[in-house]
Order: sequence, then C-alpha cells, then structure tokens
Amino acid sequence: MKLTIIGTGYVGLVSGTCFAEVGHQVICVDSDAAKVKLLQAGGIPIYEPGLEELVRKNVAAGRLSFTHSTAEGVEKSDVIFIAVPTPPQPDGSVDLSYIERVARDIAGAMTSYKIVVDKSTVPVKTGEKVAETIQRYCPAKVEFDVVSNPEFLREGFAVGDLMKPDRVVIGTRSPRPVAAMREIYTPFQAPIIVTDINSAELIKHAANSFLALKISYINAIATVCEAAGANVQEVAQGIGLDERIGRRFLNAGIGFGGSCFPKDLSAFIKIAEQIGYDFKLLKEVQHINADQMERFLKKITDTLWVLKDKTIGVLGLAFKQNTDDVRSSPAIALCQRLIQEGATLRVHDPKGMDKARALLPTATYVEDMNAVAEGCDALVVATEWEEFKQLDLARAKKGMTHPILFDGRNLFDPAEMVRLGWIYKSVGR
Ligand code: UGA
Repeated sequence: MKLTIIGTGYVGLVSGTCFAEVGHQVICVDSDAAKVKLLQAGGIPIYEPGLEELVRKNVAAGRLSFTHSTAEGVEKSDVIFIAVPTPPQPDGSVDLSYIERVARDIAGAMTSYKIVVDKSTVPVKTGEKVAETIQRYCPAKVEFDVVSNPEFLREGFAVGDLMKPDRVVIGTRSPRPVAAMREIYTPFQAPIIVTDINSAELIKHAANSFLALKISYINAIATVCEAAGANVQEVAQGIGLDERIGRRFLNAGIGFGGSCFPKDLSAFIKIAEQIGYDFKLLKEVQHINADQMERFLKKITDTLWVLKDKTIGVLGLAFKQNTDDVRSSPAIALCQRLIQEGATLRVHDPKGMDKARALLPTATYVEDMNAVAEGCDALVVATEWEEFKQLDLARAKKGMTHPILFDGRNLFDPAEMVRLGWIYKSVGR
C-alpha cells in the first residue's frame, strides 16, 4: 500500500521504515528541512539499534523516501499517519498544536478519499477533534476517515517491537478504513483488535500508566525490603512467576523516566480530571517515583556526608539502556542534584554523552567506562546498561580514594561486591 508518515521522530521514522520493510511504499514527511536533508543523505538523527541498516536497505529498494512537503505526502498516498510530537505543558496536559497543524495541512492537500491515522500518543477524544478540523479545513470537501492506531514500541528496541508487535489496535467507528488497516498490518502477524476511536486512544494511556504503576509498585516494595532486610529481586522473582503478574517491569531502581511514562501519566491524570475522575492511584505512582530518586540521593549523602569537593563517577546518562535519549532521564536528574550539592562529576554513557553535554556542561565526559572511577570518592550506576556489568572492578577500585559504589540499577551482586572489598549500596537489597 502507499503510506505517508508525517513526523520522523522515534515513532514516525521507525514505523515508516518497518512498513517499507514489509513491502509498503512509504513517504516520510518532516517539516524540519535539515532533518529531511540528513535522512535523504543516508544519515539517521537518532540512535536506535538496527534502524540505520533498515533505512538504507529500504531507501535502496525504492520503498522509502523523505520529503518536507506534506502536500506531496498526502497526494501520493492512500493512508496518512500522523506521528508528530505531543509535548507536555506546564499543567501536565498535552500540547496538541502540532497535531492540529498537521490535521489542517492534510485537509488542505486532500483531493480524494484518505484515511488519516493518528499514531502520536494523544488524550482520549483527540481523534474526534482531528476529524472536525479536517472537515472544517478541507476545501475539496472530500470524504475521509480518522483512525487511532497507537504505537507501543520501546526506545532501544523499537525495530524489534514494531516488526513483532504484541498487538495492533485499530480504533475507528467506521467500517470503511478497517480493511486497509488490516492490509497494512497483516505482514506483521500480530493479533489485531478493532475498537472505537476513544477506546484506542485510552488503551495507549492505560497501558503506559499500568507499566509505570508496576515500576512504582516494585520500587515501593524495594523500600519495604530495605527496612525488613529482604531482597527485592527475590521478591520480584517470586511474584513475577505468577503469570497473572509477570516478571517484566518489576526491576527496582532510581525510578522511571524518558519521554513517555512521566508525560503520559500527567496527561492521563489531567484528562481524567477534565472528564470528572480524580485518578489518585496514578498520582501516587508519580509520588513514589519522585521519592525513589530522593531516597537514593540520601543513601549517597548518608555515606559520603558532604558532597562539596567530592568527585563522583557516574555510569549512565540515558534514561535507559540501548538509547542515546536523555530526555527526562533519572540519571541526568540525579547528576544535576549531585552537582547542586557541590560534587564534581566524571560521567560516561555508551550512547548518551553527546546529548547529555548541554544538560550537564560542567561534568567531565570519559570515553572509557573503566577510566571513570579514577580519582573518584564514589561511583554511581544510574542507567541499566548491560555492559556496565563488565566493569573492571579491580581497576576501578585501585583508582578510587575509597571503593564505594551506589548501584541505582541493581546490576551487581551485593555479596560478591562485599567480598571484593567494596562498600556497596543498591536498591531494595
Ligand atoms: C515506554 C513503553 O514501554 C512502550 O510500550 C511505549 O510505546 C513507549 O513508552 C511510548 O509510549 O512511546 P520507553 O519509554 O521507550 O517505552 O521505555 P521503557 O523501556 O518502558 O522504560 C521506561 C523507564 O522505566 C526507563 O527509565 C526504565 O529505566 C524504567 N524501568 C523500566 C524501570 O525502572 N524498571 C523496569 O522494570 C522497567
């Protein structure tokens, strides 16, 4: 099928590329001319494992192209996906101005029936507004359908998640676009659920909030474990083997971050409030997440006492492993707090250092993770990168004034660390 994706962020670029990979003809549109130029020249604006090769392959095969013209994208395709940002506003609600702008642009360019699919994460009832806007701003007054098709990919695993989705949600009250949507998704061999548009939009917020709730739940359990002398990983294992609960997203740490969970929680709480429900449960999920960072910081200050004039090595800046994304990263927030307390930082992240520089301009960026500890009073693990487990602990210990490690992601074994002569503090163990 001929598809156009408007917006080449994580969701737009990866979706477009994966649609091309299964044989569709895809045009990706972005209003940022520099980004389009980069993509046309074979560059990729984000780090996402496997994406670069897939983009190159599909561009070479003539199935994937880039333009900054929405009109061209609308004219040449039957189905137009909206994948533009929906950033948070200071009151927690979502800024829908990009969605509205794109809806108007699509409407202005439509001269025949089109299916307009919203893939951006939006509050429930946005689809209704998109339909109203297209109706109002379409001079040709052609027929169209608006569909909600939320995306569930995780950064760092986006290509895999898209090629093998757990489920595909198609939200529309109209039967007409369902066949086309099924055709687009059939090659992905995933269960397809057809719902009304409001339910589809709600599924996205409900899913992300539930995952965030799971993380806050295990973080709360971690606090109880610390007080009770129990081990949160063993508890997570014990409850996670119950299929009704599941082990995934039960890793205690310094809290969740990124451009999705914090924003989507606030947005869901806000939209619930607007339609008459005070979502106290989700407010508590936010509180637990904020407390988790404070508790970890307290562990550091309780041990080191004064941070002024101390040098701390920090492993991890990205909001999670396998990404260079540092937006709303708990690791960055922690670094900022340590700097506020007067500490000097030596930092390392396998992919996130370039993007972190603007947020942490005073830190020293160390290319080799094994060199971070040199001259440090303590080491902190702030992101769950697998490769940190291979840290040369003997070398790190030798280079430090005192071998103290605060492990915010529970990557090391407490008993082994003590055996190796470390003062070792982790989360919930
Ligand atoms: C999340 C969802 O997992 C995706 O399904 C969804 O599509 C996406 O948001 C989105 O709305 O676009 P993502 O933000 O990429 O994906 O990252 P996650 O892997 O969910 O991790 C989010 C945060 O939770 C990270 O800071 C991570 O370190 C933290 N986390 C995750 C934990 O602290 N413990 C866990 O057990 C799992």
